[in-house]
This record gives sequence, C-alpha cells and structure tokens, in this order.
Amino acid sequence: MSEQTSGDPLFQDQDPVFARKELLHVGHVPDEDRIVGRDDEIQSVANEVGAVVRGDPPNNVMIYGKTGTGKSLISRHVATRAQRAAESNDIDCTVLYIDCSEANTETRATRQLALDLKEKTDYEAEIPLRGVGTMEYYQHIWAVLDAAYDAAIVILDEIDKLDNSNILMQLSRAREARKTNTYIGVIGISNKVQYKESLDERIDSSFGHRELFFHPYDAAQLREIMRNRQDAFQPDVLADGTIELCAALAAKKHGDARKAIEILKEAGELARRNDVTEVTEEHIKQAQEVAEVNRIEELTSGATVHAKLALYALASRIITGERDTYKTREVYQRYVGVCEMAALDPVTENGLYRQLKEQAFLGVIESEKTGGGRSQGSYLLHRLVTDPKHIVKAVRRDASLDELPTYETLVNYGGNQTNDTDLSSFVE
Ligand SMILES: Nc1ncnc2c1ncn2[C@@H]1O[C@H](COP(=O)(O)OP(=O)(O)OP(=O)(O)O)[C@@H](O)[C@H]1O
Ligand SMILES: [Mg+2]
Repeated sequence: MSEQTSGDPLFQDQDPVFARKELLHVGHVPDEDRIVGRDDEIQSVANEVGAVVRGDPPNNVMIYGKTGTGKSLISRHVATRAQRAAESNDIDCTVLYIDCSEANTETRATRQLALDLKEKTDYEAEIPLRGVGTMEYYQHIWAVLDAAYDAAIVILDEIDKLDNSNILMQLSRAREARKTNTYIGVIGISNKVQYKESLDERIDSSFGHRELFFHPYDAAQLREIMRNRQDAFQPDVLADGTIELCAALAAKKHGDARKAIEILKEAGELARRNDVTEVTEEHIKQAQEVAEVNRIEELTSGATVHAKLALYALASRIITGERDTYKTREVYQRYVGVCEMAALDPVTENGLYRQLKEQAFLGVIESEKTGGGRSQGSYLLHRLVTDPKHIVKAVRRDASLDELPTYETLVNYGGNQTNDTDLSSFVE
C-alpha cells in the first residue's frame, strides 16, 4: 500500500481515496498559496522583522498562541520572504530555525546555530560536537555571521522548553557588545502564555521585543485551510458538506488547524478501510472522536497514574450519575473504588485534590469554588471540559489501566444503579 503518494499521475489511482496524501501529513509545510486566514498576522510579523529588507535592524518579537494556530508556519513563511526580499536588494540575509523542544539547552541551541551557519557558508573552522561550552559556540556564530551576512533572523520555536533565556540576551546584545556587525532579529514562539510572565521576570530590557498573539481559527478560516488542501483527495471523494462539518467541529473544540487537518485525513483513512470511495459526514464524526481521544491522551500522557485515575473517577461519576459537576469529596469516593479495581493504593484526599488541580492546569477539567456560607465553608466543583467518554477511552489506553470498566459498561451501570459512589459492587 502506498502511504506516500507522489504528485506523479502514474501512481495516483493506486489509492482510491487519496491523491496527494502528503498534503495532510503533520509535518507538511504548505506552499505559500495554501496559507489562508492569517493575513493580519503575516503583516504584523513582517512589520517586526521587515527592516532587514532595507538593510536596517529588525525588531525582536515574541509570538504567543494556542497550539495549531499557525505560529511556526507563519514565522517561517515571513522570515523566508524577508530573506528573499533582502537578497533582491543585495543584502545578505539568513534565516535560522531552532526547535527548542529538541535543542532544549543553551549549549544545544548554540551548537545547532553554529552548525547550521557552517553548513550554509564556506566557514572552515571545525565546530566541536562536544566538550566545549556555549562561549565557544557563540564565537563561531559571531564569526560566520560577520563573514557572510548583513542580517539574520533567528526563529526560536517552542522557546519555553529552553532551560534558560541567556541566548535571547546574547543574540540581542551581540551588535551593541561589538561581537558582530550583523543585524540579528529574534522571533520567539511559545504556546504557553504563562511563559510570558516568566520571561518578563527573567530578562532585562536589553531584549526589547514586541508581542503578538495568534488566536484560534474560526470555522470559516478552518474551512478555507482545508479547502485549499482538498486536492489531497481524489476528485469527488469528499461528499458535500464534509469540509464544512469538519471545520465546524474543530472550531467548536479548539480552533486548531493541525487537528482539523488530522481529522480530515483520519476520515479518509476510515473510508478507505471500509472500502468506500466517498468520505461522508459520518466518517468525519468518527474521525473527530478518535482525534479527541488522541488529544486527551497527549494532554495526559505525562501525568501520573493517579492523575489518570482521578480523571477516570470524575468521568465515570459523570457517566453513571445525573450531574456534570462533582465535589472533590465525591470524586475521591469514586477514586478509592477505582484504585481498588486497578489494585493500586489510593493517595489521600488532599493528594487527589492536587491531582485535580494539575488537570485543571492542563485544561482537561475546570474547577470552580462554590458555596461558602459562613457555617458551610466553600468547596470546589469539578467538571470536565471534554466528553467523559473520551477521558475513559484515553485513560484505558494506559496499559496498566485497561482493566477498568469501558465507557459502554459504565453507561449500563449508570442505568441500573444510580447514587452508588464507589463502583465496588460492580463487577464487569
Ligand atoms: N493559515 C494556515 N493556512 C494553511 N495551513 C495552516 C495554517 N495555519 C496552520 N496550518 C497548518 O496547521 C499546522 C499547524 O500549524 P503550526 O505548526 O504553524 O501551528 P503552531 O501554532 O506552531 O502550533 P504549536 O504551538 O503546536 O507548535 C501546520 O503544519 C499547517 O500545515
Ligand atoms: Mg509550532
């Protein structure tokens, strides 16, 4: 089976559903003419780095926004265009891109910058891979920049993963400190808005920078993004209304373009697995469910087993009970029963409360303070941000928890006996 279809028509009709599936791959970088719905953001980033085109110093800029809002894509796109425009004005400009989730220390990041620069130029000095500190890498960076470039745009993607922010200071002060004559502009990217506060505390004014916020896509924008890639499918495979439905579902949930494209791809795969050559609204709905479970699993994958049990406890109470919010105490009662089923020792109620708070932080649950009459004291009510079904599925994907009751069993259980708190009378 050809997973990797090519643009060559000779191989296209081997796959009855997809024509150019690569357009839907996660890592795929779309051509310029497939970028839609971000004109204002493109212009804003261009305003910050665009001075390089005239041979002037660019501004530094931090881009914040939730996942899948086009931050990485737009940054690379604008930086590359600025580089091209500069070159046509006889200005030597380069774009350097660092994924700080991989190069997550100052040493790794500077080493990669030095190596990338060496590769782009005819710099001859040897760059050691280990055994040297950041200072040596900086020296190579300044040397190559001076020798080869008037300007450089450095994109530090997922900058919150970097262990310290010294690199920001080094890059922004380099010219002033006479380390290099090259103008350097930094584009920092983060999907953690908390990073903004921590950055403000850690760095001083030498990293003068603007801030841009990318908002989630609305349904109309997601529709355009997907329409622009519908040639990933064979003609007439997408039934009327499928892209619209996919966009509406994705906009309602998160406005994440990456997820919307993934849903479309998954829907195509479902159709193919079912041996049909039409992707229907039903495929989209099923694909959306799979995507949502994946999303929850991603969000909780780093969580401890007790955090997962806490989530499962809340989700299962919602499924078997009649409310959609529960107090910490009520979640705890169910949690203890769930631990018993999983043959694990429960943490204390206070420990569970901390787990729940952590989940609230991840955006999986919302907790709200209620009550608080003088004699009663206040308490927290927890609700799930997503369908409890998805939580149950995602938690059960953990191999050590796959014995817990399935969603379907919980639904039946709820119909038979309400008000039971600990599931203990329940045997699958
Ligand atoms: N405006 C757009 N037009 C076309 N495709 C887009 C657009 N925005 C995003 N995409 C697609 O969605 C994917 C996700 O976008 P991108 O990687 O830029 O998001 P991000 O904001 O950097 O997310 P994260 O914070 O998770 O890194 C991209 O690979 C791209 O294919
Ligand atoms: Mg990104």
